[in-house]
Amino acid sequence: MASFVMWHATALFMILFRYSVRGHISYSIPEEMPKGSIVGNISQGLGLDLKRLKSGKARIFAGDNTEFVGLNKERGILLTEEKIDREALCAKTTPCALHLQLILENPMEWYDVTVEIIDINDNAPSFPKGEITFEISESAVIGARFMLENAIDLDVGSNSHLSYSLKPTDNFVLSLQSQTDGDRNMEMVLQKVLDRENKEQLSLLLTAVDGGEPQLTSTVRIHVTVLDINDNPPVFNQRVYKATLPENTPKDTVITSVSASDADEGSNAIITYYMSSTGDVNDLFMVDARSGKIILKGSADFEKASRYQLNIQARDQGGLSDSCKLPWVALYSYACLKRDLKTSAYIVLLSLSVWNTEIRRSSQNVFL
Ligand SMILES: *[C@@H]1O[C@H](CO)[C@@H](O)[C@H](O)[C@H]1NC(C)=O
Repeated sequence: MASFVMWHATALFMILFRYSVRGHISYSIPEEMPKGSIVGNISQGLGLDLKRLKSGKARIFAGDNTEFVGLNKERGILLTEEKIDREALCAKTTPCALHLQLILENPMEWYDVTVEIIDINDNAPSFPKGEITFEISESAVIGARFMLENAIDLDVGSNSHLSYSLKPTDNFVLSLQSQTDGDRNMEMVLQKVLDRENKEQLSLLLTAVDGGEPQLTSTVRIHVTVLDINDNPPVFNQRVYKATLPENTPKDTVITSVSASDADEGSNAIITYYMSSTGDVNDLFMVDARSGKIILKGSADFEKASRYQLNIQARDQGGLSDSCKLPWVALYSYACLKRDLKTSAYIVLLSLSVWNTEIRRSSQNVFL
C-alpha cells in the first residue's frame, strides 16, 4: 500500500510537471486554530467558480501526505483538518509554511498554495532546572561572576525574546552579555560582599519574561549558601575580668572563668584557651584549655606578691587577632583584652590580687 502511494505520488508529479502552474496563492493563519477553521476562500482567491471546482474534481495535494488543510468544494474554501502546532511542525524555523497544490482535472491545472503558520505566544519561557543552588565563600570579591542558565522559549520571534530580572539586588546584580553566536551569557555578579555571620542563606528569584502579547513569565529560585571563612576572631565576653584570691586558698580551687565566643562556624569557631604569662604565674595558675577556668596550682603568698597578671589567650583555629586597650586597673584585680602580635590571638589579661586585710599593700599595680 505504501509503495502504491509512493508510486501514485511520483506519477502525479510527473504528470503535473507537464502542465504549467496556473497560479499561486498565499494565506497565513495563526497556529492552534480549532479543526474546521477557515484558512481562506480559494474559489474567490484564484478566480475559480464552484462549478469548476466540482467538474475539475478539485483536490488538495500535500507532498508529505500530512493533511493539515483540506478543501470544501461546495463552499470553495480551505479549512484546517486539525489543530496545527507551529512548534511541532517547524520548531525554530521561520517562516513556517505548508506548501500545497490545488489540482484540477479536465483540463489538468494546478495551483501552488502556501499557508504560513503564524506563531502565537503559546509557550511560556522555562528554566532548565527547578531551582539553582550556589555555595559561595564569604571571601568572594566584588565583581565575582556566577553563571546562570538561560530559560528556553519554544516560540519564535518576539514571542521567544526573553528579558530577565533578578531580585533582590542586595548582593547580586544580573549581567547579560551577547555572544557572537547570538546567545546571551547570563551571570549574576557580586556587588556587595557576603557575610555569613550576617546572613547564611540567600534566596533570590530569577524571572524570565517573553516579548509576547500577553507576556508569559517563568521564575526560578536561586539558593545561595554562604560558606564561612575565618573572618571573626574570638572575643572575650567581658572586657574586664575581676578576681580576688584570699590568701591560703587551697590548691585546685577555680578562681574564675574566662570565656570567649567566635561568630564563625565549624573549626573557625573552636576556641582554645592558653596562658601566655611568664614567670611565677605559670607555676601558680593554669587555665583549662576548653572551659577557660582559671585554677590555682600552687599556693599564693601575699608576702611574695600581692598581684598577679595572667595573660590568657583565646585562639580559634585560624588564629585571628584584634586589639584592645588596657583599662585602668581596679584595686583588687583587672583584666583586659590585649593584642599579641606574635601569636595573633586574643589575649585577656587577668590580674589577680592576693587579698589581704591590709588593702593598701595590695594596690601596687604592675602594668605590662
Ligand atoms: C467563496 O467565493 C466564491 C466565489 O467568489 C463564492 O461563491 C462563495 O460563496 C464563497 N464562499 C464562502 C464560504 O464565502
